[in-house]
Amino acid sequence: MSWSWAKCVLNSSFMQLKVGVLGATGTVGQRFITLLANHPWFVIHALGASSRSAGKPYATAVNWKQITYMPSAVKGLIVQECKPEAFLNCAIVFSGLDSDVAGDIESAFRAADLAVFSNAKNYRRDPHVPLIVPLVNPSHISIVKQQQLLHSPPLQKGFIVTNANCSTTAHVIALAALERAFGPLDTLMVTTLQAISGAGYPGVPSLDIMDNVVPYISGEEEKIEWETRKILGGIADVEPEQRVGSLALQEFDMHASTPLKISAACNRVPVTVGHMINVSLRFARRPPPSPQQVCEALRAYQSDAQLRGCPSAPLQTIFVHDEPDRPQPRMDRGHQDGAGVNVGRVRECPVLDIKFVVLADNVSIGAATSSIINAEYAVLENHIL
Ligand SMILES: NC(=O)c1ccc[n+]([C@@H]2O[C@H](COP(=O)([O-])OP(=O)(O)OC[C@H]3O[C@@H](n4cnc5c(N)ncnc54)[C@H](OP(=O)(O)O)[C@@H]3O)[C@@H](O)[C@H]2O)c1
Repeated sequence: MSWSWAKCVLNSSFMQLKVGVLGATGTVGQRFITLLANHPWFVIHALGASSRSAGKPYATAVNWKQITYMPSAVKGLIVQECKPEAFLNCAIVFSGLDSDVAGDIESAFRAADLAVFSNAKNYRRDPHVPLIVPLVNPSHISIVKQQQLLHSPPLQKGFIVTNANCSTTAHVIALAALERAFGPLDTLMVTTLQAISGAGYPGVPSLDIMDNVVPYISGEEEKIEWETRKILGGIADVEPEQRVGSLALQEFDMHASTPLKISAACNRVPVTVGHMINVSLRFARRPPPSPQQVCEALRAYQSDAQLRGCPSAPLQTIFVHDEPDRPQPRMDRGHQDGAGVNVGRVRECPVLDIKFVVLADNVSIGAATSSIINAEYAVLENHIL
């Protein structure tokens, strides 16, 4: 589909782009279903899950855990096995697959020339796959051209785009606002308080998490420390120059111009939804900005996804609380349907420069909402053919 045709279709109230959801029965998959039910551009066409669910109507296969009712349009859809054949009519495939199976399945969908927007960790470190938090670095989508050309055989339409680990997403949005206003960060200390829904359903056993805090989430600290650099860094031409056809190859610079030191400590806490992250940071520039200047920069931040016209991008990317005891998961995670982030307690840090707390809905902007905005941006940038 050419861009002009896409624009024509998307402006029309009659036609929408068909989309599929893999892992549609899971925690992230169910959030995709609720968010896509009334989407202005996308219409759910196919749902996939494991062989345990395949062949059943969605309403029978799923253990529905959303606080909104199941959309009637999906109740009777028959859940498919996660094989490309049932999704070939989809312009876009969203994946909420478990990482144990996402690698092979998403690769097969890409090879079938389908555009895949994944929440799993499997391809986040691939040098040709963009890791996009849509309120931070949607322009990294440009690298999918190179991904398509380097695929064997080369692809016309298929690619994989990933979004970040849900904790990384929360803090990196605030960090992007500060880097835009005050230049590069130098040092970052983060301590997470992560909700149990971040582990999927049924997640952490109640006997392990009630009345308790678990100070270990496998692989999480390494993900935050690595993914933050890929997202906040830029894309540069490979040196010495290499080409595929007429395209100059590019690589992610991992924030190389100002190496960013990051230390993360992750904890699982007895909260159902909403990851909180305590952040302390040091700017490269001296003197650093004041807490007042930091608050102003956070409030003023507008994402490129919003400016570009992505319909699911929040109007206010970062909501800054003045009350000393906010944000709180139960009170603030639903702000803007969980599409933005909340920041509070901005103050001086006696060790680094500034410290604050961030709260994000781990299932919405931490997962499904990010994938959907990424897909909207890909449509607007003419990557969905
Ligand atoms: N939860 C979050 O807050 C969050 C945030 C960011 C990223 N993520 C990532 O998103 C992905 C999904 O997480 P989740 O929390 O939604 O997990 P989940 O609740 O455990 O759901 C997993 C989904 O994968 C499907 N599945 C499992 N084995 C399969 C197989 N062999 N073939 C096809 N489908 C299979 C399940 O289908 P059945 O129901 O049929 O078993 C289910 O739909 C994970 O990679 C996770 O790391 C999660």
